[in-house]
Amino acid sequence: MRTPPSSAPSGKAKTDAAWSASIRLFHWLIAVLIFIQFAMGWLAVGWRLSPTKINLFVWHKSIGMLILALVIARLLNRLARPTPPLPADTPAWERAAARWSHALLYVLMIAMPLTGWVINSAAGIPFRIFWQLPLPALIAPDKHTAEVVALVHFALGIALVALLMLHIGAALRHHFVKRNNVLRRMLPSRRLVK
Ligand code: HEM
Ligand code: HEM
Repeated sequence: MRTPPSSAPSGKAKTDAAWSASIRLFHWLIAVLIFIQFAMGWLAVGWRLSPTKINLFVWHKSIGMLILALVIARLLNRLARPTPPLPADTPAWERAAARWSHALLYVLMIAMPLTGWVINSAAGIPFRIFWQLPLPALIAPDKHTAEVVALVHFALGIALVALLMLHIGAALRHHFVKRNNVLRRMLPSRRLVK
């Protein structure tokens, strides 16, 4: 009896494996929401006091809470399955940089909404997510705490922007300089090249 032909050498097959459809969906959905979220945050803070400013904040806080829920679901989904390994020729420092920067991105994607939630609680402003669901307060109202945590929220935002610039730069380097499948395997279309 013939044994079935193996599809490819195992190392190659693994390196060419794409991220699962759910991981790719989470990645791009959350990325788009985070870009909108930065625009909303800066717009809302700079807007003159008016009903529009209040609406911008409702959108900002609502999208922020949606991001928190999606990131938790993404983490559970991510921990449940194996991840595609980096190309075999990736140096050790790049593997470590990828691991640590991805972990830090997850930490910041959780810390941003949590600090926002604390500001909202400390400011004592009643707020309903998408005008519907009341958000419970995490702490009692306190003006000083609200101001300090707003600074932390801002600083974490700057850290996230800086890390995202590195992240996007690294993805583009893989694609245009190293010419491997690292960006392609995260794209929705999943067209890998040999
Ligand atoms: C990934 C999620 C989030 C991101 C990236 C983000 C980003 C930002 C940014 C860039 C600003 C402007 C900072 C400034 O100029 O001072 C801001 C302000 C603010 N955000 Fe968020 N935010 C997120 C989630 C949330 C959530 C979930 C809430 C509340 C439930 C929230 C509440 C606020 C408030 C109250 C301010 C105004 C702070 C102030 O008075 O200076 N944010 N956010
Ligand atoms: C707010 C924007 C973004 C966030 C928060 C983000 C976050 C992340 C995280 C946490 C991972 C690790 C996946 C995991 O281990 O579960 C990842 C992977 C990846 N991201 Fe992003 N990302 C963003 C935007 C982008 C953009 C704009 C690009 C492309 C230019 C990109 C390209 C990639 C690629 C190629 C990977 C896979 C790396 C690998 O296979 O090892 N990301 N991203």
